[in-house]
Amino acid sequence: EANTNCSIVIFGATGDLAKRKLFPSIYNLYRKGQLDSRFAVVGVARRGWTDESFRENVAASLRDSKMQVEGDLEDFLSHFRYLAFDVTNTASYQDLNTLLGEMEQQFDIPGNRMFYMAMAPEFFGTIASYLKSEGVKNEKGWNRLIIEKPFGRDLPSAQKLNEELRQAFAEDEIYRIDHYLGKEMVQNIEVIRFGNAIFESLWSNRYISNIQVTSSESLGVEDRGGYYDKSGALRDMLQNHMLQMVALLAMEPPIRLSTDEVRSEKIKALRSLRPMTEEEVAKYFVRGQYGPGTMGEKEVPGYRSEGNVPEDSRTETYVAGKLMIDNFRWAGVPFYVRTGKRMAEKSTKIVIQFKDLPMNLYDKADEKKQPNLLIIHIQPDEGISLVLNGKKMGTSGTATPVKLDYCNNCVDSLNTPEAYEKLLYDAIQGDGTNFTHWDEVALSWQFVDVISKAWTNNTNVDFPNYAAGSMGPQAADDLLAEDGFHWWPIADDSEFSI
Ligand code: BG6
Repeated sequence: EANTNCSIVIFGATGDLAKRKLFPSIYNLYRKGQLDSRFAVVGVARRGWTDESFRENVAASLRDSKMQVEGDLEDFLSHFRYLAFDVTNTASYQDLNTLLGEMEQQFDIPGNRMFYMAMAPEFFGTIASYLKSEGVKNEKGWNRLIIEKPFGRDLPSAQKLNEELRQAFAEDEIYRIDHYLGKEMVQNIEVIRFGNAIFESLWSNRYISNIQVTSSESLGVEDRGGYYDKSGALRDMLQNHMLQMVALLAMEPPIRLSTDEVRSEKIKALRSLRPMTEEEVAKYFVRGQYGPGTMGEKEVPGYRSEGNVPEDSRTETYVAGKLMIDNFRWAGVPFYVRTGKRMAEKSTKIVIQFKDLPMNLYDKADEKKQPNLLIIHIQPDEGISLVLNGKKMGTSGTATPVKLDYCNNCVDSLNTPEAYEKLLYDAIQGDGTNFTHWDEVALSWQFVDVISKAWTNNTNVDFPNYAAGSMGPQAADDLLAEDGFHWWPIADDSEFSI
């Protein structure tokens, strides 16, 4: 029987992440009976809240996330307590230990403790080390540490953070969250690949011409200008979410679906990323920053006019690039990735484009040359489409694209809270498969550091260079055109139907 009754300590409990993602996730697990009824949540933050104000905040977060709240919330909320906390003061950790002891007794919890870091990353190391030295990390049950991004801002800072954490927690006690790995359709990449003979046998440079991974956002930086301006799209999205999707697409089949086997294949895929020189970065990577524009009917300001962003900011809000994976399977196949803020659509999609046939027997309807495509819709819609050629009805020698659609979830519901819910559940079960191992983090930073260094040394791109509401800078289209390709549409693929 899995040993899952535990206390969850949330550092940063008054913050945005706790409110938008964590409380709704905990509630959903509770409601579905996936959380052992013997559980406790301690919210920890600097502010002088009380248990009552904390519980009120938790209840408000459930209302705001428009979730279905069933029955009486009182029982659920009675498992929540709050502690005003100073992360640098040992007394705070002793108070926490005492409170946890009380709650463990009250709810019959054998000392299993989950520490969730949902706050400013500069304190992650400090907190971990005090948790150990003050005995909050205890011997009575298991101890796990969930770490939110950003995990460093380059390889050296990530290494430093990791060393700090590792002095207090073992690698298998550390759960580094990448919430994309909790998304239903990201998890489905492996099933599509390794559960279908028709795809796995085609999954290589023999039949695939290129792969495109797009994660576009329509929102700007909202109220996160302070964080975002020091980060940028490369660190915020590419280093983690985008490279994780690439690893899942590129990895070799694992010998079994255990955490270690899956991880070692992902690590190998990331190790095969072709390192670039600074000149190659200039050639294969495109950065952008949004200027003013319109989203639908609404006029929106440019990045430099957002809150907490300097007027002359050189931070990129968009990145596109061409990655090459140097191994037998992928030699010669470009993986194109792009992600940005204030783009026309909120959409994450993967398009696998197959090679053309050796010769063409059919006329193409509408002059359109249509390769076979496999499209994995990550969000907002979740599903798979396969674009094939069929006979154009009523003609004799004309082929036209037809599209087979499988819809996992056609309702446009963004599934982020659900992703958190799944990952929290996994961590409570002790399943680290959908979390990132240190080696993956290190390899991703190693790859990304070259790009950020090249960009720091070379400032000859004029910002802003794309309008809010567009699909990004022209240079990203040129990048594919150079290889004879183009980005497939992400919003509407109606053009593929008969
Ligand atoms: C986060 C980034 O990791 O992912 C945000 O910090 C970004 O900037 C978000 O908006 C996107 O996640 P999702 O699930 O909405 O695609």
